Formats: sequence, structure tokens, C-alpha cells
Amino acid sequence: MDSSNEGNLNFYDLHPKPADFFAEVIDGLNKTQKSIPPKFFYDKAGSRLFDAICDLPEYYPTRTEINILKQNSDEIADHVGAGCLLVEPGSGSSHKVRLLLDGLRPHAYIPMEISREHLRQSAEDLGGDYPWLDVHATCADFTSTIRLPYSPEGIRKVVFFPGSTIGNFEPEEATRFLQELAGLVGPNGGLLIGVDLKKSKDMLHAAYDDEQGVTAAFNVNLLKRINRELGADFKTENFCHQSFYNELLGRVELHLVSQCDHTVSISGECFSFTAGESIHTENSYKYTIEEFQDLANKAGFRPQAVWMDDDSLFSVHYFIPP
Ligand code: AVJ
Repeated sequence: MDSSNEGNLNFYDLHPKPADFFAEVIDGLNKTQKSIPPKFFYDKAGSRLFDAICDLPEYYPTRTEINILKQNSDEIADHVGAGCLLVEPGSGSSHKVRLLLDGLRPHAYIPMEISREHLRQSAEDLGGDYPWLDVHATCADFTSTIRLPYSPEGIRKVVFFPGSTIGNFEPEEATRFLQELAGLVGPNGGLLIGVDLKKSKDMLHAAYDDEQGVTAAFNVNLLKRINRELGADFKTENFCHQSFYNELLGRVELHLVSQCDHTVSISGECFSFTAGESIHTENSYKYTIEEFQDLANKAGFRPQAVWMDDDSLFSVHYFIPP
């Protein structure tokens, strides 16, 4: 592990193994239902498009969660308690945690992010804006075993996992991940997690197929990225963005649907598409409060509190081990 220290900012590099983009794409396209993991959406253009999604009038999750955190910051702080070690897996820009810091007054904050430069910039900005806060920025892949580079004895560990990122996991994977978090925080720790709620189909359809076509561009950008980085010849006009709520499975699905019979080459490997055949690019699971509490319960967490907006669009849960 490499580490450095500058004022209130510490930087640790756990040298996460970069995902094998080529192997995972080839693997996914060889399946009967072709698929590509959603983690590959987020190159530079994709991250910018996702930020634009978050500002869309139809995309309710981001602003709703922000309002829930703002309006309940005192109560959240009462539950979490002052002086914890606050860990955020996949911290990105570390925007949402700012809504909690003044109330929480954590012992230290550990943002964890696989994107080294994004982490460095965000941690620097945060450390500058909160001079009293010790930031222990950790470059790591939170989807593999989480190790904390800094964990002083006797300080309670609390994980913050906002954004309904948990919705990208299959329910069994989500349970395993929460189990991992329960092990990480230990018997006196906690978990503050944002979870998108089940709601009307119409509202879900609008949120994932917006009027301006930003979500469509976000989805199609995956093909442009494969062209750019993996030497492929996807014609983006041959594919259409599709999203729908799969009520049976409780998830919104994103697909890229081939508009004709054609073949695509990726660094010399050929894949054929029939008209109407799709590449499944994302699942976004939606839960009721009870469904998510049951899932967390299987992972070894007990519900302590849950906050929602007035329209019950989004939830923020606080869990502790039994
Ligand atoms: C980042 C996984 C929470 O599922 O709503 C938004 C990603 N995809 N629009 C979500 C996403 C299309 C988002 N998560």
C-alpha cells in the first residue's frame, strides 16, 4: 500500500486491479441473453451523462435523497452518533456526505473510490472545505473485499452507501454485499443506506427514458466506449435505447435493442445480432421498505430508523447489527 499525508488529507492506494473491460464485454456478448455490466457506463463521457441524468426533471432519486438527507440530518446524527469513522464505498464526488458532516462530526471520513484521479480531486476539495475533518481517501475497489487502511481502536465504524447503488446488485449479491459491510463495521457499527422504492410504472418509465434523451445517450455511450477502447465497429444507429419496469422481478431494465440483422466485430471477434435482439446493460432494483429490511436482516442488520420523502419515492435506512 502506498500512502501520503498532506494536512488533514491522507491518501492510500490499495492498487485495485482494473476491470478487464475486453474480457467482460466478450464474455457478456457470448451469453444467450447478451449483456454488459453497468459499471462500464462510467467513462468520462458516461460520468458526465450520469450527472446530467441526476438533474433531469423525470429522474427523481437524486434530488429526493438529497432532500431526505437535508431534512433529517439532525435525526440521522442522533442515530449515528458523533465521532464515528465514516466509510463511503464508491464515494465519487463526495457530494452527498457534505449534507451530513456538520451534524455528524465524524472522527474521520474514508471515501473509497476505484477512480484514482476522481478520488484525489474530490478528497482535496472536501478537505479544503472541511478543515476540521480528517479525510483518509482510499483508492480501492469496493466490490472486492473491503480493507480499511485506517481504523483506530475504539472508534465506531459506520458505512454510508447512498444513491441506491445497491439497486444495481441482484438481491442475492446485495445480501452478500451487506453481509460484507456488517463484517466490516462490526458489532457496534452501523449502515446508512439510500434505497429507491417501488412506485408507479409510469414514473419509473419516465425516469429511465427521459424526454431529452439523456438516458438513451448514456446507454448508447457504452457502445461508443467499446468502439473507442476495444477497437469495435458498433454502428450506434443500429441500436435503440430501451427501458422498462419488470414488475415480476421488481427492477427497471436497460437494454440496447438491435434494429436489424447485422454483425459487429470487436478486435476481430464477430458477434451477430438479429433484429429485435438486445444487449441487457443494467438492472435497477426497487424495494418496498419491508422488502429491503428483510434483505438487510438476512445480512445481519436490524432496522433502526428509516426516512422517506412525503411521496414515498425514496428511502434512507439506518441499520445496526443485532
Ligand atoms: C446509479 C445505479 C443508482 O439505477 O437509477 C440512472 C443508474 N441508470 N439512469 C439508477 C441509472 C439509468 C442509477 N444508479
